[in-house]
Amino acid sequence: MRLSNRAQVIQESAIRKLDGLVANAPKVMFHKMNIGQPDVETPLSVLRALGQTDSPVLAYGPASGLTKCREAAAAFHARTSPGLGPEHCVVTQGGSEALLFAFCALCDPGDEILVPEPYYTNYNGFATVAAAKVVPIRTRLDDGFRIPPNDVLDRHVTDRTRIFLFANPGNPTGAVYGEEDLRRVAEWARSRGLWLVADEVYRHIWFSHPPMSALQLEGHEDHVIVVDSTSKTFSACGLRIGFLLSRNMTFMERIDRLGQARLGAQPRAQYAAIAALNLPDTFYTELRATYRERVDAMMDSLAAIPGVDFHRPEGAFYTMVRLPVKDSEAFARFLVTEFRDHSSGRPESLVVAPGSGFYANPADGRDEIRLAAVKNADSVRRGVELLGKALAVYRG
Ligand SMILES: Cc1ncc(COP(=O)(O)O)c(C=O)c1O
Repeated sequence: MRLSNRAQVIQESAIRKLDGLVANAPKVMFHKMNIGQPDVETPLSVLRALGQTDSPVLAYGPASGLTKCREAAAAFHARTSPGLGPEHCVVTQGGSEALLFAFCALCDPGDEILVPEPYYTNYNGFATVAAAKVVPIRTRLDDGFRIPPNDVLDRHVTDRTRIFLFANPGNPTGAVYGEEDLRRVAEWARSRGLWLVADEVYRHIWFSHPPMSALQLEGHEDHVIVVDSTSKTFSACGLRIGFLLSRNMTFMERIDRLGQARLGAQPRAQYAAIAALNLPDTFYTELRATYRERVDAMMDSLAAIPGVDFHRPEGAFYTMVRLPVKDSEAFARFLVTEFRDHSSGRPESLVVAPGSGFYANPADGRDEIRLAAVKNADSVRRGVELLGKALAVYRG
């Protein structure tokens, strides 16, 4: 029996591909810096709301989400982007489904999505499902992953280009685009007839200046689409609640249709999301302080390893690290299968995400890895220390 082409080509997640090997070594204490799964406790009010029930039946909810949840999300975004209402917001099963819906609503098979590279590896999977093609625009560690000038962007446009997609703050780069760059790119995208899809799932995790939301770009209401999520901001990755926002009502109506086909996001999870969206401002101050400490620990520890290059994240909690190795995937496997440090009395090692998975061409990013500073600062320090030790052994 034959499987579809799509099923045969869909890529394995670069972030999770070593999980099987990790499971084979249960006695080893692995410091997991490969995946953006924080150990920060989910706020109690969110957990409590999840446990509440007002009905003996776990019923379907509306396709676009509970009105109360859409209202809460719209009010949350309206703090920085006035004028947003529930009609501008659809509740999705994570930011992942919001991205998938956006690609499906905007691309016909073969259409192209421009994205600054390196980029979040799952964009490839969503594009495969939507039968669209990711077209990368290379950005570089050495200049902080800035978006190239318009003439470079122009070279990537074809008559199949539909979307300019970007994450702000970036995963895996940690780069935050400034207001000037955002306005420039929005103008450029509009002048080329492109949708601007802004993935803002890390918007509340920043260290020097808050990223501007694409929803704040006046004059761009018709082509701006924003993806948001409860996963990282509220340390609620398992809640699977995200949001798709736009002021383009034709787009929103089509998204409702897509939502009808999968019947709606889990209503209890939406009540938990409402509790999250109602947290006080102090929550965000603490959130940033938590990740600042972890990212600082990652930066200080990396600075102590000879021969590695990296960019200090301005937001999110990731960094791409250039290593003095030829094949970072082989090195990542070596960490999981061979390298063991016994200095604490029990075998320890590290899990990292090989860099090539964040590039469209697997031949790129071969000397890079992505690290996530998602565990407490001591664990992050220890993980990066193990990276240094392992590099020394690996390079002989
Ligand atoms: C940039 C980016 N966008 C979207 C997602 C998807 O998030 P979720 O589906 O958990 O909301 C992630 C998850 O790591 C991400 O890093």
